[in-house]
Amino acid sequence: TDLDSFIARLPKAELHLHIEGSLEPELMFALAERNGIAIPYASVDEVRAAYAFSNLQDFLDIYYAGAGVLQTEADFHDLAMAYFDRAAADGVVHAEIMFDPQTHTDRGIAFATVIEGLLSAMVEAEAKHGLTSALIMSFLRHLSEEAAFETLAMAEPWLDRITAVGLDSSEVGHPPSKFARVFAAAREKGLKLTAHAGEEGPPEYVHEALDLLQVDRIDHGNRALEDGALVRRLAGDGMTLTVCPLSNLKLCVVGDLAGHPIDRMLAEGLKATVNSDDPAYFGGYVADNYRAVAQARGLSRDDLAQLARNSFTGSFLPPDAVARHL
Ligand code: ADE
Ligand code: ZN
Repeated sequence: TDLDSFIARLPKAELHLHIEGSLEPELMFALAERNGIAIPYASVDEVRAAYAFSNLQDFLDIYYAGAGVLQTEADFHDLAMAYFDRAAADGVVHAEIMFDPQTHTDRGIAFATVIEGLLSAMVEAEAKHGLTSALIMSFLRHLSEEAAFETLAMAEPWLDRITAVGLDSSEVGHPPSKFARVFAAAREKGLKLTAHAGEEGPPEYVHEALDLLQVDRIDHGNRALEDGALVRRLAGDGMTLTVCPLSNLKLCVVGDLAGHPIDRMLAEGLKATVNSDDPAYFGGYVADNYRAVAQARGLSRDDLAQLARNSFTGSFLPPDAVARHL
């Protein structure tokens, strides 16, 4: 339709994408074979059938298991290149991609293997598609503060090529306060800061991300809507929320897309953006997410253009680059 092609042509930045979550079942099978690794599925269809989640943890268990096929620098390169090709086809001109080093270093894969594979794909994506990108190194919040500090230390040789740190994995029971000192150390090193907050966790976790982590962005933030004062604060600060509609649906953060709050966020003055989170697991890349909320919530072209503008002003690009995209 007209709206579909309007969405595909709208220049967009993607700000919330876990590169491990872009591992399509076909590539999972190919890498399993290439690396001689057994996976507990007989076919690609069987993998897709396993992607029925009732909450975040359900998903995370399958997502961490899937990442086990990633072994070599070429694997990480191929994974990221497949994502960049899909993103470019969706009208993404800039992508800030998260990676979870601990998912790999904890099973004996060197930090260098992971990051060098991703970095070479980032260079190739710019040459091939003109798509610029940045790396966000995320700490797994179900692991300890000490483990996060060890990860930050491992990243030291590459800090000039890492734009930000993030905080992901199991939210409830692992509040932002647990990582206040790690985030302070990352800030001291000149890194930008973002954290998943208010996906399953309460509004209090969003307050903590702001007050204790001093984040530059909030990933998800849905449950901030339960706290009027918090909404006014986020709106007043111009804080970017990286919202992920199909993820919210698949992880039961919302019951259905007809009830998705994306337009309410805009109406309340929040700088919401639309992103894909883990597209291979949640059934769509960034344009699919725009299309899904456009249809379910009857968004106008102005709304969609606003969401796309927010993705640039909410990015970690320098102001002159942001201006070129507006
Ligand atoms: N890791 C990958 N996707 C995630 C999500 N939606 N929430 C928390 N951790 C994640
Ligand atoms: Zn996420």
